[in-house]
Amino acid sequence: MDTLSPKVKTASKEKPVDFLPLKNWDHIELYCGNAKQSAFYYQYAMGFKLTGYSGLETGNRERASYLLEQGKIRFVLTTPYHPDSFIAEHIKQHGDGVRDIALEVDDAESAFNETVKRGAVPALEPTKIEDESGFIIRSAIKTYGDTIHSFIQRNNYKGFFLPGFIDASAKAVQGIKDAGLRSIDHMVGNVELGKMNFWVKFYAETMGFSQLLSFDDKDISTEYTALMSKVMQSGTGKIKFPINEPAAGKKKSQIDEYLEFYHGAGCQHIAMSTTNIVETVSELKRRGVEFLRVPTTYYQKLEARVGKIDEDVDELAKHGILVDRDDDGYLLQLFSKPIEDRPTVFFEIIQRKGAKSFGKGNFKALFEAIEREQAVRGTL
Ligand code: FE2
Repeated sequence: MDTLSPKVKTASKEKPVDFLPLKNWDHIELYCGNAKQSAFYYQYAMGFKLTGYSGLETGNRERASYLLEQGKIRFVLTTPYHPDSFIAEHIKQHGDGVRDIALEVDDAESAFNETVKRGAVPALEPTKIEDESGFIIRSAIKTYGDTIHSFIQRNNYKGFFLPGFIDASAKAVQGIKDAGLRSIDHMVGNVELGKMNFWVKFYAETMGFSQLLSFDDKDISTEYTALMSKVMQSGTGKIKFPINEPAAGKKKSQIDEYLEFYHGAGCQHIAMSTTNIVETVSELKRRGVEFLRVPTTYYQKLEARVGKIDEDVDELAKHGILVDRDDDGYLLQLFSKPIEDRPTVFFEIIQRKGAKSFGKGNFKALFEAIEREQAVRGTL
């Protein structure tokens, strides 16, 4: 007679199984008031290529969406046709903003089940969406504010981007050079006072992320304002989400300003990588993209602080590009001013030369630059 041996849990040095293997960023969907005009900004100013479209002409009676691509980055800009939709409400509350940080997976049903089982709030049950080129499976869960993560499974789809989209490259603005943007580096969320650890726990327990870095108000404070931040990273290491919350300071922090004008938690900035930040930034500036400016004194002791770098410091100073070093190398970065009238969402341009961190050494100079902008806005 067989005897069943009791199941013994043996201690293992192996890493726990990643229950949510994320292949990569899929796309970022922004809800905006006038996607048609925003698509021009992303093409003319930011160097994206209009490649896809969904709207009335394709049988979509609810919304118009424009797909813009540069390198591996995909943005979808979406505008509602009618006032009684969730999209219209989202725009009313938040202004233009990031609705969906969509992630590519091999199994969107498993991604949904595994995260919902661990406490994620569903936003979309696993759904098969098809056209003549095959099908995708899409599911989604909620994260901070009104932001969601869609899980996109594409292995059975041969068509263009997603079912419902048509190739719109003929409508693209012709003769626009790309600005050298290559991929999404990280996406930062701003959450309410006291909520950072809630969302850190969410990414850890619900999505299997680990904490990469942590900054407190000693690292990130100026004379007036402070904030705290923790960086969460997916099991595959591909996806990084820093989460910020305001900390008590003498004046209103940039996070408070964001929360006031976004009317809640949401995506603060989208960091995009380049392999030549000097070229990318000078191209973006030439086209009218506005960047934050640090005082020229920042460059006086730059090499003493970060050591030898390949770039010409005068060239960096000319464009206001910031540099920081960690144990693995160094990085160059620059932050845009808010990309809309509400002082909310902005872009970061980043070039990594080995460094895996986020520019801690620049926080002070950067936040003082933001404070000067806040002072002009009367929101400090
Ligand atoms: Fe960043």
